Amino acid sequence: MSDISGTPITPVATVTRLADYRVPEFLIEKTHLTFELHEGYTDVSSRLTITRNPQSVKADRLILHGEQLELLSLAIDEQPLDAGDYQITPHNLTIRDVPEQFVLYCTTRIYPEKNTALEGLYCSSGMYCTQCEAEGFRKITYYLDRPDVMSEFETVIVAREGAFSTMLSNGNCLSDTVRDGKRIVHWHDPFKKPSYLFALVAGNLVCLEDSFTTQSGRQVLLQIYTEAKDGDKCHFAMQSLKKAMRWDEQVYGREYDLDRFMIVAVDDFNMGAMENKGLNIFNTSCVLAHPTSTTDAAFQRVERVIAHEYFHNWSGNRITCRDWFQLSLKEGLTVYRDSEFSADMNSRAVKRIEDVSLIRGVQFVEDAGPMAHPVRPDSYMEISNFYTVTIYEKGAEVVRMLANILGPEQYRQATDLYFSRFDGQAVTCDDFVQCMEEVSGRDLCQFRLWYSQAGTPQLHISDSYDADRQQYSLTVRQHTPATPGQTEKKALHIPLKVALYGGNGVLALVTDGQARGTETVLDICEAQQTIVFGQVAEKPVPSLLRGFSAPVRVFYDYQLTQLRQLILLDSDGFCRWDAMQSLMRIVLSKAIDGEDNLAEQAVLIEVLKQLLADHAAMDAALLACMLDLPGEQYLASLYDKANPPAISRARAQLQHQLAVQLQTELLSCYQVLQDSSSGLSAQAMAARSLCNRALAYLLHIDDEYYRDLAQQQFLRADNMTDRFTALKGLVHAEHAGAVAQEALQAFYRQWQHDALVVNMWFQVQATRPWGNVLQEVQQLLNHEAFDACNPNKLRAVIAAFANQNFAGFHDSSGKAYQFLADQIADIDQRNPQMAARLLTPLTHWHQFIDEHATLMRKALESLSQRELSKDVYEVVSKSLNGRGAG
Ligand code: PHE
Ligand code: ZN
Repeated sequence: MSDISGTPITPVATVTRLADYRVPEFLIEKTHLTFELHEGYTDVSSRLTITRNPQSVKADRLILHGEQLELLSLAIDEQPLDAGDYQITPHNLTIRDVPEQFVLYCTTRIYPEKNTALEGLYCSSGMYCTQCEAEGFRKITYYLDRPDVMSEFETVIVAREGAFSTMLSNGNCLSDTVRDGKRIVHWHDPFKKPSYLFALVAGNLVCLEDSFTTQSGRQVLLQIYTEAKDGDKCHFAMQSLKKAMRWDEQVYGREYDLDRFMIVAVDDFNMGAMENKGLNIFNTSCVLAHPTSTTDAAFQRVERVIAHEYFHNWSGNRITCRDWFQLSLKEGLTVYRDSEFSADMNSRAVKRIEDVSLIRGVQFVEDAGPMAHPVRPDSYMEISNFYTVTIYEKGAEVVRMLANILGPEQYRQATDLYFSRFDGQAVTCDDFVQCMEEVSGRDLCQFRLWYSQAGTPQLHISDSYDADRQQYSLTVRQHTPATPGQTEKKALHIPLKVALYGGNGVLALVTDGQARGTETVLDICEAQQTIVFGQVAEKPVPSLLRGFSAPVRVFYDYQLTQLRQLILLDSDGFCRWDAMQSLMRIVLSKAIDGEDNLAEQAVLIEVLKQLLADHAAMDAALLACMLDLPGEQYLASLYDKANPPAISRARAQLQHQLAVQLQTELLSCYQVLQDSSSGLSAQAMAARSLCNRALAYLLHIDDEYYRDLAQQQFLRADNMTDRFTALKGLVHAEHAGAVAQEALQAFYRQWQHDALVVNMWFQVQATRPWGNVLQEVQQLLNHEAFDACNPNKLRAVIAAFANQNFAGFHDSSGKAYQFLADQIADIDQRNPQMAARLLTPLTHWHQFIDEHATLMRKALESLSQRELSKDVYEVVSKSLNGRGAG
């Protein structure tokens, strides 16, 4: 962190606490902003209509937020203030003795061209844009920069005539004129909003236009702005936007409210995208897509993120968060909404598998470490550090549980109530749950613990069968491990969805003499509970946590034959995958622990053979997922102290073993599906994913025939998914040598002008699972296409290496740990948010055996010796001390 003169300031580790929340002392009814964009600096003049908040105790001094601002003028009701009337600190402007109601006039100068933190107003490839969430608006002007201060915004943008073709802000354009060589564009947003939703864009952009007629018959103009070179890459995003708008009308009854909805794509962006009212700003990686240059996975990401930001218009903008502790109110709900949207647009089972993989592989890890926090945290130092998988993904699972507890009709009634009751307000997670409670008449008191209690609950399940009584009972014991600052955990309300399978398929369920269909939700509320099923004629196989009905870990001692049965017969695709993961996990843990696993491997191979031989009988996309071995990070999380090289080795060996044993089936699957379909239909994508999984497996075998297959596919592919998978397979194959190098070079030559594709090229190298990757990663940092100021490049090289190259990052020398720490220290000088995010893998040190943990801590300690931003300081200090904030 540095002040305006550039001198570093040691962070004051101030902690903000939920318990200290107070309503604002002042309200800002109207916000009028004028931006004069000059080369090298921008002057921002604000006119704020301020009143005392009747709900607050009387205060006569006004404290505004403001950082890195040069104050040019300050007046109240047109009376300039004297230096003695106010005080400026690095974070605030305090004005003494203000009246009940007044207009504050303020002009500040800012330097967007020099803004490398990408927060506030900054420049990206020659265009001006803003990023204000969570607390970036205070880098634009002095303001009450908190989400519970909602104001009506007017924005005037002034620039030299001809400087920019496009000058945008939120809402409707009132006028666009030229006077005295200046272009003046005037915007007005009729909806009250907090400052974090403010946006401004000025640049030379092209625009794709379309329109959407809402369910009530209003016409909405849809616009996607990009740099001219990307003009042909917006069609997919536009289609996705229209689908999302229709879906939100049909599923949630939510209609768009303004006459215009704009999206702008920018190259330099810290996150994926931002839901600014009427003017979403997107990372190019989440909006641009074209069949020749975009993989299927990236198409799906665009569809999902477009929907996510659009859905925020209701879940986030119309109804926003009272304070940042409530962040999951908008993010958890919106992720749940986008996840259901994607499930409706594509394969539901595959979407669920992707969500669960993220939760298990990343969220559970966060929950088990020093950065663990509840869905609604109690405290933070830097809110930017709380845009986490816990807030987003676990938060979405909490909403999903509520939706499942209420059922579709009541859930819809409850969201209707929520949207109508709180429209235009800034509210809390509790307000949301309250609506669920009112509509359903259920007591959700215990359920609310999901918001306040951190950590992943563990369910230990055992069973017994009584043939005489024809009774089957499940005993469920729940336990949540301690997390920083929360040692005592209470029992949660856990909806556990189950089914029972017998020799001839699914069984009818009877509990307490009542028929419960073939699938039922058990409400687990006690530390230990036994559920008895009656009229069970044979010892069944339990299918547990169906659909991942709660974000918990289940421990049940499955027999191999039971897993085999679920893999082949379970009616729920997600459960089939989950049973397969369990089987693979058993095989892998034996190998990791150095035990003999031949019997287990034989079952795994046999069942995979059967699935592959009969692949036409099932959803290809689901089968593709079922071929994936559990990730290394997830495997590590199953141990108290994991041994990284042992995990990588066991996994690589099993991969090779499966490839060898399943060669015939994989090859015939590949040949049948190859070229079977093109285009972007769900079916075509599914066929490609299975086909490419087969190829990836085959490339684990050192055989020229398979290398040729890959090379041919690389050269002949008519889409990026096939081309890129072939490239990746070759580069990641230890034996591909010159073929891989040629492909890499050819790929770069062909795509060097497309930044997003170059990022994939970086990523494929940074994630190579063998050899001295660290050295190559260091070389990539010096590559002509690398740019250390561009977050996507940092993600493609550094984050990809640290998060997706388990073997490379956890090299026993510990050099990669220190490399990451050094990079972070450097990046922190420019972009603290990015630096703090890149730190995540080092915060997992506690998961590993001492040799690794010590080296990881050493890297963290080296960072703690440096001058750090508040962002990085918070993560480093918490992960070293293992203490939660507060
Ligand atoms: N609110 C954004 C989203 O999830 C994420 C974001 C947070 C973007 C902070 C920028 C800064 O949709
Ligand atoms: Zn969001």
